[in-house]
Amino acid sequence: MAWSPDKTEVKSWNEWDTLRHVIVGRADDCHIPPEEPALDAKVPEDSDMRGQWGRRPQETIDRANELLDNFADQLRKRGVRVDRPVSIDHSQPVTTPDFHTDSQFGCMPPRDVLLTVGHEMLEATMSYRCRWFEYLNYRPLLKQYWEEDPRFRHEAAPKPRLTDADYHPDYLSEKIGDAQRLEWAAEKFFVTTEEEPLFDAADVLRFGKDLVVQHGFTTNLKGIEWLRRHFPDHRVHTVNFPGDPYPIHIDATFTPLRPGLIVNNPQRRLPEEQRGMFEKNGWEIVDAAQPAHNTPPPLCYSSTWLSMNVLVLDPKTVCVEKSEVYQAEQMDKLGMEVVEVELRDAYAFGGGLHCCTADVYRDGDCEDYFP
Ligand code: ARG
Repeated sequence: MAWSPDKTEVKSWNEWDTLRHVIVGRADDCHIPPEEPALDAKVPEDSDMRGQWGRRPQETIDRANELLDNFADQLRKRGVRVDRPVSIDHSQPVTTPDFHTDSQFGCMPPRDVLLTVGHEMLEATMSYRCRWFEYLNYRPLLKQYWEEDPRFRHEAAPKPRLTDADYHPDYLSEKIGDAQRLEWAAEKFFVTTEEEPLFDAADVLRFGKDLVVQHGFTTNLKGIEWLRRHFPDHRVHTVNFPGDPYPIHIDATFTPLRPGLIVNNPQRRLPEEQRGMFEKNGWEIVDAAQPAHNTPPPLCYSSTWLSMNVLVLDPKTVCVEKSEVYQAEQMDKLGMEVVEVELRDAYAFGGGLHCCTADVYRDGDCEDYFP
């Protein structure tokens, strides 16, 4: 049955079929959280964020919200239904029997927390203490979907304990250096241990029957095994990108655009031995264009490669950040119509166009692209 705006239905099997309904995050009350093991390991060593924490400056919150609101309106004008989360008070500390942290993170970006697979939305375990309660920002929406769509499966992965046993102390030093980090990444030695299953939703890409999951700082092997057991009808593939000294979240590294075509970060190429399933099935993996910027914006966790963090609206149309001219040009050459969206001043809140959204409904069914 065709999608109708008057009826809520949750369904999305991949990253590219026509998008009908989406969640766009909010910058309200976002905080730079205090130090904690998994987060510190991820903050780039030369970043302006080291040693700083607290509520983000109000003018940056207002500006990011303006851009996110505009993006939501732009999507609505194209006929996409857009929902927004309800921000909780992120200044509240988090205390469990196992850990304490003095503040939370925000309700950005939704892609990190919510994994939509078919008729299910799964709240990820998360791996930062400051993000332990982040799902609460989305609960009013998920509650609504659950009440309105009888097929909707609202699931939550087991909450992790996040004691110190979850983190390798070697990663806690101030200065590790990129050479050491790259060596560790090549050995698949990351900040998170195998104490318990951990995953962030943004480490997962959906290709119909196949889920491709990055093993790195935010997702461990037990997290991937948990996903495998949770989705028994899927094939779950583990991937690594050894060129990335800060491997978190796959969506500035490996970006499928449509069946048969993926852009890959040229500094973080998928290793030869992990390319088999794509090559055998005639998929092309092309190097992404260079970012238009030499540095990320102020107080930003991510790299300049948010350039390739695009949101695919349908197999012929893609949203690209407005200043990312090289990425837009490449999309055009690859036969995609480009929708420009201004978002750079919101990057500091956790990411780009793919990160700041979470799928609720895309057309299409669960297909096997790698038979
Ligand atoms: N690790 C990426 C980079 O800095 C950022 C990914 C952000 N993605 C997300 N879903 N928050 O290159």
